[in-house]
Amino acid sequence: MEAHRSDARWWHGATLYQVYVRSWLDTDGDGYGDLAGVIAKLDYLAWLGVDGIWLSPTMPSPDDDWGYDVCDYLGVHPELGTLDDLDRLIAEAAQRGMRILLDLVPNHTSTAHPWFADAISGPDSAHRGFYVWADPAPGGGPPNNWLDATGHSAWAFDEASGQYYLHNFLASQADLNWWEPGVHEAFREILRFWFDRGVAGFRIDVAHGLYKDAELRDDPPSAAGATDRLHSRFGLEPVYSANRPQAHSVFRDWRTIAEGYSPPRLLLGETWVAGLDRMAAFHGQGDELQLTFNFPFIFADFTAPALRGIVADTLAALPAGECPVWAASNHDISRFPSRWGGGDERKARLALLVLATLPGTFVLYYGDEIAMTDVDVPPALRRDRMTSGGLGAAGGRDRARSPMQWDAGPSAGFTAAGAVPWLPYGDHAARNVAAQREDPASVLRLCHDLIALRRAEFGGRIAGYRELPGPPGLWTYRVDGLLVAANFTGGPAALDGPVGPVVASSGHGVLDRGILAPWAGVITRPGSGRVS
Ligand code: NOJ
Repeated sequence: MEAHRSDARWWHGATLYQVYVRSWLDTDGDGYGDLAGVIAKLDYLAWLGVDGIWLSPTMPSPDDDWGYDVCDYLGVHPELGTLDDLDRLIAEAAQRGMRILLDLVPNHTSTAHPWFADAISGPDSAHRGFYVWADPAPGGGPPNNWLDATGHSAWAFDEASGQYYLHNFLASQADLNWWEPGVHEAFREILRFWFDRGVAGFRIDVAHGLYKDAELRDDPPSAAGATDRLHSRFGLEPVYSANRPQAHSVFRDWRTIAEGYSPPRLLLGETWVAGLDRMAAFHGQGDELQLTFNFPFIFADFTAPALRGIVADTLAALPAGECPVWAASNHDISRFPSRWGGGDERKARLALLVLATLPGTFVLYYGDEIAMTDVDVPPALRRDRMTSGGLGAAGGRDRARSPMQWDAGPSAGFTAAGAVPWLPYGDHAARNVAAQREDPASVLRLCHDLIALRRAEFGGRIAGYRELPGPPGLWTYRVDGLLVAANFTGGPAALDGPVGPVVASSGHGVLDRGILAPWAGVITRPGSGRVS
């Protein structure tokens, strides 16, 4: 058995990989990926150089939001497998030096959860206080102006009691009431249940949202446009429906639990906030979340000034010793090879080169490593209820959830021949793992080599980063002993002075006599030579 390559802070300098389980590998021919499929591809992820695997929701759920509507926090969704499968996955991953993180959804439960069934049975029920109930507004109608993730009122009326319950997402995802101590106790037990089984940590869904304003004040209008998903929720600024400061006390509590394990369990927040200072606040004094997703970076334009500005601001905002996170895709947004790259593979390669050389934790979304692009899902085949009403364009979130492209065969290596995949395939003939693994010049091989370099150079540490001066479209930085030059323009860029031997580059021959090709990046080892 290979020992874990790490210690108490194994995610420093590490590479995490998000597996959207339903889209990864289907081993039983039902068209949905499953846990057995994750186990079957562990060798692939180990080859790629992954340290930790974040599984999208695995718990039982009616799947109105594909697992983000949990009805049992201590189980495994029967369509994905069993608890035994998950135990086996944890053990088999460990044998390959990898850890498993689960997705935890503490902001809301499915209305099919027994807590909610009890809560809606009447105002005196034991779990009534687990959810956010409110009387109608004085003139009738919803208690306030809060909007859900589809743009409609976030309140659903319960005829029987004459009260509304809150749902910041779908009506079948009832928000939990974190002012209720019983909710805290329930989640402590959930954390311990999974940590005891060897789960290495959680990605925490809607980490910024847990507490709601105690007075249920209206959200104010947002200065940002209604389609700016980072700053506004359909034209409102969610300062009362979410983003309350009390959430920090929850994460301090969970951190204490996480630190009670060896190695400490990892808390990685889905901190969907616009300000880097607000994101950084979720690290507390180094006593809350160890990692936070950086949405300002994810939503930035693909330009050198935009991205390097956010990197500088992120490093300045984080408390000393805290670890930044660099990701560019996930299951809720357009994939970066489309969003940033417009399908131009040079840009996807450049993005990977930068992501893999920034200090901290690098998170790949499945398919990033082969530069999978968004898939145009025709309306009749869409499966995401939340975005059918307008969040995101052209296929909503389904476009980023198509089956992993394993090979060029008729079912993309994803499912059995003739089985119908839950979402349509992308262009797997053009882009797939099997072909790219054979091709030394492929994006996959580039990604593999970048991850290996990353591990060798700064595994187990948060590397030192220093931006170097240069023209606006050329982002040049030192990261520990390496120099990275990234040309974010459509023209050639001259590198200033000797840069030392090339260690890796985004493509063959992109650096020629000091001239870096358009949309190309290079990593060199300057040694003691002049670097700028
Ligand atoms: C964020 C998740 O990533 C998304 O997929 C989900 O719909 C919402 N939270 C609600 O749980």
